[in-house]
Amino acid sequence: MKKILITGGAGFIGSHVIRLFVNKYPQYKIYNLDNLTYAGNLANLKDIENSPNYEFIKGDIIEGNYIMNLFEKYRFDSVIHLAAESHVDRSISNPTEFIYTNIVGTVNLLNAAKHIWKDNFEDKLFYHISTDEVYGSLGKEGFFVETTPYDPHSPYSASKASSDHLVRAYHDTFGLPIVISNCSNNYGSYQFPEKLIPLFINNIQNNEFLPVYGKGENVRDWLYVEDHAKAIDVIFHNGKNGETYNIGGHNEWKNIDLIKVVCKIMDKKLGRKEGTSEKLITFVKDRAGHDLRYAIDSSKLQKELGWKPSLQFEEGIEKTIDWYLENEEWLKNVTSGDYLKYYEQQYVKR
Ligand code: NAD
Ligand code: DAU
Repeated sequence: MKKILITGGAGFIGSHVIRLFVNKYPQYKIYNLDNLTYAGNLANLKDIENSPNYEFIKGDIIEGNYIMNLFEKYRFDSVIHLAAESHVDRSISNPTEFIYTNIVGTVNLLNAAKHIWKDNFEDKLFYHISTDEVYGSLGKEGFFVETTPYDPHSPYSASKASSDHLVRAYHDTFGLPIVISNCSNNYGSYQFPEKLIPLFINNIQNNEFLPVYGKGENVRDWLYVEDHAKAIDVIFHNGKNGETYNIGGHNEWKNIDLIKVVCKIMDKKLGRKEGTSEKLITFVKDRAGHDLRYAIDSSKLQKELGWKPSLQFEEGIEKTIDWYLENEEWLKNVTSGDYLKYYEQQYVKR
């Protein structure tokens, strides 16, 4: 049985990847290594937690000796590495944690994989999940391609860029079989409500203000999370050793326009008069170093590996809003405790 280690599987994207792999590949044993930080939640995996081909391991990728022992014990055949500190605003208030998890954590996994695979790299793969933010910011025109030079601006994107470089360095220097993908903004179920879409859905429900950074003119390229998981599946199985693939939705939205769409759907779903939620929009101080525009050219992935997004945004956003409205309990659980402290520091005390 092929043993696949997926890191960060209790988080937003990781939980969708775990679900897809556990259900689609009964012939693989899927190990989910996650430290359950504020962003990790085993409730995201309730439906598959008792599957015979799934095992959860609670552990911290920052701890090098622990990771080495874990690889020696389980002798994983492949790694899909998603564990990370992922929120840009948190990287501005506390950069150091991002360096430890995103850089040191990745190096620990690379060292352990290199150590146990050293005699035979055949059928082995270290798949590193990265972001379009490493490429920096676009002006009004153009798209990020795989060869766009790196130009990260936030501590988050700089830490992800650094980890990408290290993964490539282990390939070039030690021959480690690797693949990297850089994806645009994901949306969908189980996303922690610090990120724009679930934060605003939650705030609209609670009649709280909607904090739009700057003038709301920044542009993001939104991809439904299950389409990202499908792209990861395709790249894991068919991606070429050493290659990078960009993943994106060809679905650019100015923040303010996207927010208005969310407001409109929420008014309808909550039976409120049209325009009610828009009144909650409040322009606040801009994010420091706020990248203006991200947009991905995913034609390499589409042409070489045959992936394309399956869902139109209109359908995806409606499904997403329905999910949060139907899963009030999930939302309540993750927005209690530490979340309140974070919210206060990020939005009320600023
Ligand atoms: P997330 O914050 O929802 O989940 C991260 C997971 O990693 C959590 O379960 C957390 O507990 C775990 N984790 C954090 N530190 C850890 C540590 N030291 N040891 C073990 N586990 C730890 O993140 P996400 O949005 O699902 O992103 C997953 C990956 O995809 C990240 O690498 C991120 O950079 C990348 N990515 C995210 C997006 C996006 O839009 N969310 C887009 C492109 C790429
Ligand atoms: O592009 C991929 C990246 O997308 C991932 O690598 C990151 O892990 C993920 O968090 C996401 O980063 P962003 O910074 O783009 O996502 P976020 O949801 O934080 O913000 C989206 C946009 O909305 C951004 O322009 C900032 C703005 N925003 C965000 C928040 C939380 C607001 O205007 N107000 C807010 O309160």
